[in-house]
Amino acid sequence: MPAPRHLLAIQGLSPPEITALLDLAEAYALLNRSGKTQRDLLRGRTLINLFFEDSTRTRTSFELAGKRLGADVINMSVSTSSVNKGETLIDTAVTLNAMNCDLLVVRHNQSGAPALLARKVDAAVINAGDGTHEHPTQALLDALTIRRHRGTLEGLVVAICGDIAHSRVARSNIYLLTTLGARVRLVGPPTLMPAAISELGVEIFHEMPLGLKDADIVMMLRLQRERMAAGLVPSAREFRHFYGLDAQTLGFAKPDALVMHPGPMNRGVEIDSAVADDPARSLIAEQVEMGVAVRMAVLDTLARRSTRNV
Ligand code: NCD
Repeated sequence: MPAPRHLLAIQGLSPPEITALLDLAEAYALLNRSGKTQRDLLRGRTLINLFFEDSTRTRTSFELAGKRLGADVINMSVSTSSVNKGETLIDTAVTLNAMNCDLLVVRHNQSGAPALLARKVDAAVINAGDGTHEHPTQALLDALTIRRHRGTLEGLVVAICGDIAHSRVARSNIYLLTTLGARVRLVGPPTLMPAAISELGVEIFHEMPLGLKDADIVMMLRLQRERMAAGLVPSAREFRHFYGLDAQTLGFAKPDALVMHPGPMNRGVEIDSAVADDPARSLIAEQVEMGVAVRMAVLDTLARRSTRNV
């Protein structure tokens, strides 16, 4: 079977495919720290960032990744309100296709939108987050960050906590972490736990002390109120009381447990600043740094597979 042209999801990737991306990203992390670039690699290639949803770190890191590899990068931000669903999306794809774009990075509030675009364009499509479905590069950068600190993912206990139901980050992480042999726990209120999620080979907890017990990694998620139908959580204050991470709650995990968050954070809701900003425990800044390296690895890999002539 030929290697896939696009990166639409973690689901379906094999352990060697994931490991190859992580190994290449590791090399790019070292290159980035050395201050060097590789501007000849994607010279003459065009990368379009097509974001139908807000983003800070994902969009800028794809932009930086493309530029460090020498691509011409174009950012298109499309406000959700001006988008006329399916038809406009396909029209947009046809337009971009006519511009001979090589790499198309797509974020959309509808699950499946990048997959739809991938069927309509010649470019390699990278899913930068679609609805509540997947956010593959986020899971890759999370895995790379963990691997740099623990050497391997195999056998680690990773507790993913909070708003699981609305989180594409959680979903991609579940697929990736279980594929590479980590034990995944989901911790959150029943209202924020998707139905049938236990079929993905995870353990479910509704209380932080039990869910965090013996955890190596505590991954907090943003309470995604913009995706929520009313009434799923009584109030931010109550959510913080039962599911927020502070120094005391972190004490339920292993003594050297590390803290992660994909950002943007709701400080004082799912995570307290004392934990988020503790350099001995928090990997949050390193996650952002690894985001650039992972995106360079993905762009590099897909550009090599591309059949488009430059
Ligand atoms: C996440 C996303 O957009 O899914 N953010 C990100 O890409 N770093 C998580 C979130 O929005 O809470």
